[in-house]
Amino acid sequence: MATAALILAAGKGTRMKSELVKVMHLLEGKPMITYPVTAAKALGAERVALIVGHQADRVREQFSDDATISIVLQEEQLGTGHAVACAGEFLAGCDGDVLILCGDVPLITRETLASLMDVHAGHGGTVTVLTARVPDPFGYGRVIKDDAGRVLMIVEEKDATPAQREVNEVNSGIYCVNASFLRDAVTKIGNDNAQQEYYLTDIIGLATAEGAACYTSTVADHMEVMGVNDRVQMSTAGAVLRRRINEAVMLSGVTLIDPLVTYIQQGTVIGRDTIVYPNSFIGGGTVIGEGCIIESSVTITNCRLADRVHIKAGSVLEESVVQSDVSVGPMAHLRPGTLLKDHVKIGNFVETKKAVMGEGSKASHLTYLGDCFIGKDVNIGCGTITCNYDGKKKHITVIEDGVFVGSDVQLVAPVTVGKNSLIAAGTTVTTDVPPDSLALSRTPQVNKEGWVAKRQLKIET
Ligand code: UD1
Ligand code: CA
Repeated sequence: MATAALILAAGKGTRMKSELVKVMHLLEGKPMITYPVTAAKALGAERVALIVGHQADRVREQFSDDATISIVLQEEQLGTGHAVACAGEFLAGCDGDVLILCGDVPLITRETLASLMDVHAGHGGTVTVLTARVPDPFGYGRVIKDDAGRVLMIVEEKDATPAQREVNEVNSGIYCVNASFLRDAVTKIGNDNAQQEYYLTDIIGLATAEGAACYTSTVADHMEVMGVNDRVQMSTAGAVLRRRINEAVMLSGVTLIDPLVTYIQQGTVIGRDTIVYPNSFIGGGTVIGEGCIIESSVTITNCRLADRVHIKAGSVLEESVVQSDVSVGPMAHLRPGTLLKDHVKIGNFVETKKAVMGEGSKASHLTYLGDCFIGKDVNIGCGTITCNYDGKKKHITVIEDGVFVGSDVQLVAPVTVGKNSLIAAGTTVTTDVPPDSLALSRTPQVNKEGWVAKRQLKIET
């Protein structure tokens, strides 16, 4: 069992054409380097060293609250062998085996690493290489074996003979290596090759010289060890990650109408019989209950939705809690701090923020509800606005149970509307309304009969 892992990530990633170091680019919402870290940890690695160079501080920052991660600086990138040699201090603290991974190979799974470790344990365990059979081996190190399947050497594209270039079994750059052997071997690697780099792959020759045999474990799907070098490959890797998540979601009882265009981040929980329509994004640890409908083009981040919730097309929900049988949208915006209790209805063009709505309350059209506590069975009319901000501070609006707010009402906070009151359409509420009252603030209407006809006459003469 490998209890330690080394992740090589010092390269800049020039082909990304980016100001940001490659391994910090977001893949399905998380920096690329977090994927191999997660895979290594899932396999039982208790200590993980990241070999970093470019923008080391950004990588360090990413893992600042994880005590199991050490950051090793490789100031100059002199090759993969040199990278591992930089981790001498870390390796000194390792016994048993060390897994070596690459920061830009994000699709690697725990299962594949487990098979690599099994082969390693079954074959004396000095060096075991994870390989892949690929349709086009160009650019990869070719794995040269003897008839018994033992690795003789790994030869880089630039150093290979035409015959060696024909080999389509390639080095994934992922290995399991005995720690004490590795510690010693990396100090002996030279750079006498086409790229004048210190090749980690030279440990194969050092192991065989000591009489150890090196074996391979071959990944079933070569896509799993694809390296991400540019943004085209990054999108390919993203699609694979999405497919994995979406397949697991569907197999757990959720209907995705079109999984190719459904974006569900890792860590999202969705209950059975929920249906998700295309072009939806659900992420940030959102939990959704059973029997919900998430219509198309909906964005939900960091929310908790209970059962039978219906989110209609084009709505955006952030850091909100939605209880059972609620309907939201189309085109509604729940901003952070919204709590909608059972059977609430939020209609189109309604925005809420730090708003609590009690059971059965409704705001069906064109409304802003911010910093407010709304009781049960309240009707909020079309065009209602809680005027919560006086230019300096935010103030609270309280609307108690059973209140009926007519259309086009402004509630100038701080203000409280007592139970069962009725606010007439067009009212600007500036003082508290006692329970069971009618609040009305309107300029009385004047009708001037015959006025239009008279005006017409004037225009004509
Ligand atoms: C390496 C392997 C090759 C394999 C390929 C798989 C060697 C000599 N070759 O080649 O056999 O098929 O990976 O993708 O190992 N890195 C450092 N410091 C360095 C150099 C590299 O940290 O000084 C890191 C990179 O950031 C990257 C990884 O090591 O994450 C691989 O480096 P890269 O230059 O891409 O290796 P290749 O030349 O592709
Ligand atoms: Ca290279």
